[in-house]
This record gives sequence, structure tokens and C-alpha cells, in this order.
Amino acid sequence: MSRVRHILILTILLAAPASAQNLDSLLARMTLEEKLGQLNLLSAGGRASPEQMQLVRAGKLGGLFNVMGAENTTPVQRIAVSESRLKIPLLFGLDVIHGYRAIFPIPLGEASSFDPDAAEATARAAGQEAAAFGISWTYAPMVDIARDPRWGRIAEGSGEDPYLGSLMAAARVRGFQQNIFATVKHFAGYGAAEAGREYNETEISERTMRELYLPPFKAAVDAGVASLMSAFNDIAGVPASANAWLTDTVLRREWKFSGFVVSDWTSVVELINHGVAGSQAEAGRRALTAGVDMDMQSSIYVDSLAALVRSNRIPMAVVDSAVMRILRAKTRLGLFRDPYRARTAPPTSELRALARRVSGESIVLLKNERSLLPLDKAGTIAVIGPLADNKEEPLGPWHTQGRAEDVVSVLQGIKSKVQTVLYAQGSGIDDTSKAGFAAAVAAARQAKVAVLVLGERGDMSGEAASRASLGLPGVQQQLLEAVAATGTPVVLVLMNGRPLILEWASDHVPAIVETWFLGIEAGNATADVLFGDVNPSGRLPVTFPRVLGQVPLYYNHRNTGRPPDPNNKFSSKYIDVPVTPRYPFGFGLSYSAFAYSNLKLSAARARVSDTITATVTVTNNGAASGTVTGVSISGTGQFTQGADLGRGNETSPDKAVSQEIGHPGCVVDVALATGDVTDVHRIGEDKLEALVNEHIEGPFLGMFGPSKVHVLKLNMALDELK
Ligand code: NOJ
Repeated sequence: MSRVRHILILTILLAAPASAQNLDSLLARMTLEEKLGQLNLLSAGGRASPEQMQLVRAGKLGGLFNVMGAENTTPVQRIAVSESRLKIPLLFGLDVIHGYRAIFPIPLGEASSFDPDAAEATARAAGQEAAAFGISWTYAPMVDIARDPRWGRIAEGSGEDPYLGSLMAAARVRGFQQNIFATVKHFAGYGAAEAGREYNETEISERTMRELYLPPFKAAVDAGVASLMSAFNDIAGVPASANAWLTDTVLRREWKFSGFVVSDWTSVVELINHGVAGSQAEAGRRALTAGVDMDMQSSIYVDSLAALVRSNRIPMAVVDSAVMRILRAKTRLGLFRDPYRARTAPPTSELRALARRVSGESIVLLKNERSLLPLDKAGTIAVIGPLADNKEEPLGPWHTQGRAEDVVSVLQGIKSKVQTVLYAQGSGIDDTSKAGFAAAVAAARQAKVAVLVLGERGDMSGEAASRASLGLPGVQQQLLEAVAATGTPVVLVLMNGRPLILEWASDHVPAIVETWFLGIEAGNATADVLFGDVNPSGRLPVTFPRVLGQVPLYYNHRNTGRPPDPNNKFSSKYIDVPVTPRYPFGFGLSYSAFAYSNLKLSAARARVSDTITATVTVTNNGAASGTVTGVSISGTGQFTQGADLGRGNETSPDKAVSQEIGHPGCVVDVALATGDVTDVHRIGEDKLEALVNEHIEGPFLGMFGPSKVHVLKLNMALDELK
């Protein structure tokens, strides 16, 4: 016992450079190889390999990822802090994206809640659970703005809007960093992958970069995020992992970011494929001198850069700065004091309750003809479809330690509320067999309502999962049509990681419920909404197109000189499909009936730096209590997304130049009982600044409503334009 204590005390003393001076003196004692070792990050297969342990002993590894469980992190950390010459502890990373073992909704789903507090709560819980398994650093949140549903990673972010994306980014950083370090990724522009094809090139103007792609990163930096991950893509020919404008000019000089930048998986060596480096050493030199401090998985810094430093082709000061950023991060995390970081996971019951609540908030009701929903709990319900009794797919594309056995399927959720349920799988997710159709049709015929649970497999979205067709995979569309043909009313419950094309369903199915991939409580949360125990309040954080040819389609587009006009061929539109989406950004129904009136701004004129308060009255005229998820938008322009509702194209008459048509300014989340009236909210000064740049002239519109198509609006003049 006394020996153990003795060793522990010794370890802590040796590994405790608590102050800046200590870090300086530590750096001064490091060999060049040890410095480059701190910049080296490798993936393990659950536990460190003997070779990796040897690297740790030799001081050639700064961190490991994919080491799971304290029983695996502790031995290798012990080598770092007791057997390596300088006793520098390791970081242990993992992609804790939307949960560790307790899996919450995918980030795109959670963004549908428009509730940053929910995102903060799930990130906090996930971080705490991961910390209990030895993890000190997650590669989340992913904050890439995505406008192209073909791109599978749209599932991992918060959709198409930079303001919502910024709120969610900051919230998740705050949540994770109560227990572990966060990494905001992928810096930057990854979501602009051309044609939605994974890892593809991007072409982004500086204006679009600053207005659209960078704000969530800035919000994460302002929230104190510890690290950023450089992206795989290039931007107009300059790869993000060797892009000094991004990682130095913007990130460090403008934003004063003092944390560290880690590359994405082999994105340093991939500079050779990008064609900007002819050798591994040159790839490493480019990445490091651009400001990428840590090399994930290429091993180039540690293997190939020492000679370049010794020959002065890489200044030692560049290496030292990168090393100091890593050492400071380890100090900030408390690793020198407490390298083993023993933590306790939150109780399972708490995790489940949180998952069920946030999952309920993340569900979006897309259609509800003649109030088919909520369903009555009496009578026979047919539950049909390849995802109905599926416990694997609700975990989504990136579920870390999530297990199917922890998932409540939709069938189980429904059975827990209803006496008589007939189940038929109907088909597989993406195979071609129709052998199960007859049983599905028979079940539907015997039921008062058929709940069809259809959609994608979890791995059809996420990384390396671009799709060039956005319909229901396999024969699911035919299954839907066969069941609908029975005449039994159909509720379509969707599970998917991206906007799908839902034309037939939207025209023929009376009720559609978008559940994304909700995680362990998928079935309970879905049943809560289907039976009215939870009144849906989710809103789409991303536009659902009508046909693939409309992609990319998003609400905050700039004006065209020729707004779409049904009576003018020479206007901006298609000759074969409408320009409007099927479901616009912000869309989502409720069992309540909210009315919006009396929009007021605190001033009719404002200077760019002013704060304007906007208020609007919201009344619940429905029979059910519910939560208003309102989206307020300020901007100008052509509301093409509203054209399908007969609103026509609304333009701001004095506009002469092209600009984005809006940003949501605020999100409200207010519970209202029947007959309740409330008012909301505030547009902050930063939103005005974000909207106004040298291209923009007033007036613009202040708007409020449940979505982009149902807005109240007011003209407001802006003074002091640049
Ligand atoms: C590649 C992915 O792009 C990134 O998001 C992830 O964090 C790393 N692999 C590590 O798993």
C-alpha cells in the first residue's frame, strides 16, 4: 500500500508542470524528436499495440485515440507518465459524436429541436460517460454547414443555417468541455464538397466562407473550444490542412484562438494526392507551417520533419509553438496533475430520461392531414417496415460504443402504449425482395391505422456515405404504396440521416413524422409523439427538396436579378419543376395551433451596431398545450421558398445588390397552454453586423414565424452602411 502511494506521489511530482515557467523549462529540456513526438497522434484498435506502447516510452506519441475503457487507457498512460523520459501524459481521443454508450439523436436531428440547451445537456452527459471510460478528448462537435443532402455527413452537423449552427456549436462545446476536451471540425468548408461527393473539392468565396461556413467555428472558439480539426477538402485549390489563411490568419490572428489544431485522419499525407506536396516531408512541412499542430495518423511529423528542422527549412520556433499548444492543452485539462482522470458515468436512468426528452424534441411532424395524429391508443395498429423492429439503425452512422441491445425499437415503443399491435417487416432496407409485402398488406387490412417505419440504414449517412439518389432505398417505396393501397390510413415514420425526396408520400400519405436517428430511446420518443404524450415541436434545420435536380436548395440564398416569376420565362426557375422545396427550412407542425401577430421592432431605423428588440405575439388557439419553436429571421430578399403557398415572391423593393435573404435571429422555445399568449424576443447587434457588409444596402425585413414560409415581416431601415 505504502509503495503504491509512493509511486503515485512520485508520478504526480514528475508530471506536474503546473505553470507557464514549468512548461518553458519542459520545452527547453525536450529533444527535437520528443517535440515532434508530442505532435504525433495515432489510432489504436481499442487498446494500444505493443509498438504504440514503445513509441510512448520513447516520447514519440502525444496522444492516442480509439483506446476504450480505463483498463486500456491506464496502462499506456502509466508508461507515458512513469517510463518516458519527460513523463508527459497522453491525450486519449475518440469520436464521441452523439453519445458514448448512451446514444442520443444524431446532431442533425438534435438541431431540429432548435434547443441549444438540449444539445448542451446531451454533450455534457456524453462527455461525462466517455470520461468514465478513460476518454479526455472528443472529435466533436462537427459544425460543417451543409446544403447538399447527397453528402452523408450532413447527418453529423446542424444543417444549413450558420446562426442555428453557431448556437448548437457553442452549446455542444460548453457541454462536452465540462468533462472532456472538444474538437470543432472540419475546418473549413468540408460541407461544400462539390456534387455532394465525399472528400471532394470545394470552391468557396471569402465572403461565403465568412458568412456561411466560418460562423459556427467562431462561435465554438468564443465558447472556449480546446481544439479544431483541419478538413480533408481543398478550397479553390488550397487544401484546408495546409491553409495558412484559415489556420493562421483567421483562426489565430483574427480570432485569437490559443488552443491547438489537429489534422483529420491522414489529411497531412493526403496533401501529396492534392498535388501540393511532392513528398511526405514536404506535406508535413506545409501542414505544420500552415498551423496544423498535430498530425493524425500520417506519422509524418515524427518520422520526416526532424531533418527539415535541422536544415532550417522549418524554423524551430514553428515546432516550439505547436508543441507549446499541445502542452498547454494538457495542462489546461489537468493531465499533469491527474493523468488517469478517474470519472463516474451518469446513472443509466438519467441518460435514458435525457435521451427520451431530447429525442421527443427532435422529431419533426411534416404532415398531418385531418389530424390523423395523435393516434388513439385503442384499436388495432399495424406496425410495418424494415425499421419498425430494428434496434441497430436508430443508433445512426457514428455511434461509438452504442449497442443495439440498448435501443428501444419503434415497435417496442408502440407496444408499450397500445394493446393490439400487428407487426410485419414488409421488406429489407435496401434489398429487392417483395416476399414480405403480402403479410404487410394483410396486417394493414386488419388495422385501423398502419404505421410504416421506413428510411435509411444508419451507415447510409455519415462519413463516406454520399448518395446520388435520395428516395427510400430498396423496395420501400413500393411497400409504402402497397400498404397505402389497402385504404387503411398510413402514418409514415421516417428514420434517416439526411433530407429525402418524399414527393409521393407527401402527396398520398396523410401523416409523415421525421424522426432522424434518435438513438437508444428512439421507440419511446416516437411513440410519445404518435400518441400525443409529447406534442411535436421540432423544425427542419435543413431544406427538403422536391427533386434531386434542385440541389443545392437552401433558404438563405442571395437574390437574383430575375426572381422566379411564373409568367416570365426569362426568370430564375426550372421549366420542369417548381423552384420551391417540398419542406422548407424551419418547417414543422404541432398538435397545437399557434397564431403569430403584432410583430414590432423597437426602432424603425437602426445603426449597424444597434441592438433591436423584436416582439411578436404568439397565441395557442389549439386544443393541446405545446411548445412554440419560432424562427425569427432578419434579412432581405426573394422568398422563393414561400412561393408554393401562394405568397408569391416577396422582394424588398429598394434592393439593388445581391445578398443573402436571411438569418434566423433567435430561437424561442416557449410552452403555451391553450389560449395562452406570449411575446418574444430579441435580435442582437451581432446579427445586424453579420448581415451588413459593403455589399448590402437597406432596408431589410425583420420577420418572425414558425418557418420560412409563414412569416410576419416589417421593413426596417439601416443607417451607417459601409
Ligand atoms: C475521419 C473523420 O473525417 C473525422 O471526423 C474523425 O474525427 C476522424 N476520422 C477520426 O476518427
